[in-house]
Amino acid sequence: MRNWAQRALGVTGEFDVLPTIGSKELVAWLPTFLKSKSVNYPEIAYPTYLVGALIAQAQATPVGISPATWKKADLTWINSPSNPTGRVHSREELQAAIDFSRKNGAVLASDECYLNFPSTGKTAPISILSVAAGDNKNLLSVVSLSKRSNLAGYRAGLIVGDVQLISQIREIRKHAGMLVPGPVQRAMAVALGDEVHVAEQAARYAARRDVLRPALESAGFSIEFTDAGLYIWCTRKESDWDSITWLADRGVLATPGRFYGEAGSQHIRVALTATDAQIKNAAIRIASTHV
Ligand SMILES: Cc1ncc(COP(=O)(O)O)c(C=O)c1O
Repeated sequence: MRNWAQRALGVTGEFDVLPTIGSKELVAWLPTFLKSKSVNYPEIAYPTYLVGALIAQAQATPVGISPATWKKADLTWINSPSNPTGRVHSREELQAAIDFSRKNGAVLASDECYLNFPSTGKTAPISILSVAAGDNKNLLSVVSLSKRSNLAGYRAGLIVGDVQLISQIREIRKHAGMLVPGPVQRAMAVALGDEVHVAEQAARYAARRDVLRPALESAGFSIEFTDAGLYIWCTRKESDWDSITWLADRGVLATPGRFYGEAGSQHIRVALTATDAQIKNAAIRIASTHV
């Protein structure tokens, strides 16, 4: 897994790797493992960052992209490509987040579970560790095989980064458990050794996005971000529930943006995880003027 991390994440310098049961579990328990008292998380985000802070009884603060607006906190989450928006952090934005972490001696956890999926090429998704230039102190890349290799049922993830932080987490896990079963670790090593299936899966998602995007646009939705990842993030500048109801009347299920934070209350998230046939069918229904 070390070789994979060097190859795929571009990590250099001293670093460690630790397999984790899924990445949701790690996201939920990291603030507890690190005894964080304060946690920053993206204002439009995967809800488990907040839940993890609540489990640790830490103060949780939703923050924007620019670290210039962040409060000092023990732990800050970033997520690029983002669930739900598909926004990709530029190298400069990642560097600014690292600078914040170094200035404040604070942990920066970069949830990179969508790193492989599929980019429009505007800004290629990269790992925080490739920007760190060999100084990985206080940095963790959170990796999941659920999306990369479609192995959600295996609960297979890993963290890569700061040797001391990972040693601290490993020490706690010796007693708290949450160890990844040996057969799953072997399956992970095989999956990480192959990039062909990852490229095939990424192409599948990209094709589905190309089918759904024009259908949503023809129905009056503006697509925002959606540069990479598994989702289309769009708005009709109306309540997310109105958009969801409109789609539901056509037999199409999407997620209200407010599930990811109040800032998303006029957006919806459309997933690309249905089958090709279902996506094609959904596009026809969305683009049709008849209910
Ligand atoms: C941003 C983000 N992080 C982490 C996860 C957790 O994935 P898993 O626990 O399957 O690795 C998800 C799942 O949807 C996610 O969207």
